[in-house]
Amino acid sequence: MQRRVFVRLIGGGVVTAAAAPALTACSSDLPAEALAAWQGPGNPPPPGTDPRRWLLAHAILAPHSHNLQSWLVDLREPGVITLSVDRGRLLPETDPFSRQMMMSQGTFLELLDQAARAIGLRAEITLFPDGVPPPDRLTDQPTARIRLLAQAGVTPDPLFAQIFRRRTNREAYESREPDAQALRTIAESVTGHESGRGLRLDWTGAARGEALRQHREIAMAAWKIEMETPRTILESYRWLRIGPKEIAQHRDGISINSPLVRALTAVGLFDRSVAPKPGDSAVAGQIRTFNERIASTPLFFTLVSADNLRPTQVAAGRAYVRAQLAATALGISMHPLQQALQEYPEQAAGYRQIHQLAGATAPGETVQMWARVGFAPPVSPAPRRGVEAHLTAR
Ligand SMILES: Cc1cc2nc3c(=O)[nH]c(=O)nc-3n(C[C@H](O)[C@H](O)[C@H](O)COP(=O)(O)O)c2cc1C
Repeated sequence: MQRRVFVRLIGGGVVTAAAAPALTACSSDLPAEALAAWQGPGNPPPPGTDPRRWLLAHAILAPHSHNLQSWLVDLREPGVITLSVDRGRLLPETDPFSRQMMMSQGTFLELLDQAARAIGLRAEITLFPDGVPPPDRLTDQPTARIRLLAQAGVTPDPLFAQIFRRRTNREAYESREPDAQALRTIAESVTGHESGRGLRLDWTGAARGEALRQHREIAMAAWKIEMETPRTILESYRWLRIGPKEIAQHRDGISINSPLVRALTAVGLFDRSVAPKPGDSAVAGQIRTFNERIASTPLFFTLVSADNLRPTQVAAGRAYVRAQLAATALGISMHPLQQALQEYPEQAAGYRQIHQLAGATAPGETVQMWARVGFAPPVSPAPRRGVEAHLTAR
């Protein structure tokens, strides 16, 4: 059997190698234990009992870059949840300053807040209670201390109803764009919320033909760079979970369950410790597939912040998941494209171009999220590790 194989790429930077077109990998039919978290925690906790695990069961369904789920939770203080980044779960090559990690803390906080509101609690969130980590690396300082307060007049958030339905959808999209009213509704879900203050969101579709062409071109170029840079593709390989055993064991990362990829892996023909050689046909196949997806995309979303401070990154994560939940309610899919936003040197040209296109040219202005938007066939949920796996103290 040939070593060079084709595999369709599934994740935020991930790939696979396999052999024939029939091999296109996908994450369908994942083992039930990997998806158990999507069953939810059941009825709300009765008054007078500890609601924190129930809230966490919602928060862990948040989107996270590469599905790392880098959420460390300390429950030792009664009535309080302390959230930190699990520094054993970082992406040092593609997210060297941990900007996406911070956004992924924000997505978690947003879902936690929505879950608290759903049962009449106010989640009083204090960001960085022990100080703000520096801009270029993370420390053990917690991201947030969340105090839960029973309070009359807490308003539920209608987006809460979408938490179990939200998916990152990387499929090809239909050519039709969501209508203007739908885009207004999504935008208002961000701008009408405190986390959206100071953030600017924008859409690029057919009405801005030349800009749409440039979005596609930048996305394709950035993906190619990530695939062809040995250290970044190897970082993605580290988080690939191939076959039911690995998927059920880890319940994180990017799942590949195709029989052929599993077989190739089992016999050592897909070695995740070795970067593909230049010109590798597997990588070429992945780039082709990605390009088709990008070419099918009718609309791109950008979320720009005025600065790139740690609290802003967290707020951007909250804003992104709010937009995605609002889109979910309207039957609209979203798929983040972080490659050109990543701060490693090989992406510098695309980084500049997408910032210019999004009008993020003033000092500090940062495109925090860039995503495909459109209509696509439904996809299955991604694995979650379950609440207990996140607790530092029991
Ligand atoms: C900050 C951030 C960056 C992300 N970047 C990408 C990306 O570049 N490409 C991609 O396919 N998915 C990206 N994702 C989506 C995650 O891969 C996804 O949330 C994760 O695999 C879990 O799947 P789910 O969102 O369907 O629950 C990103 C998510 C977040 C929060």
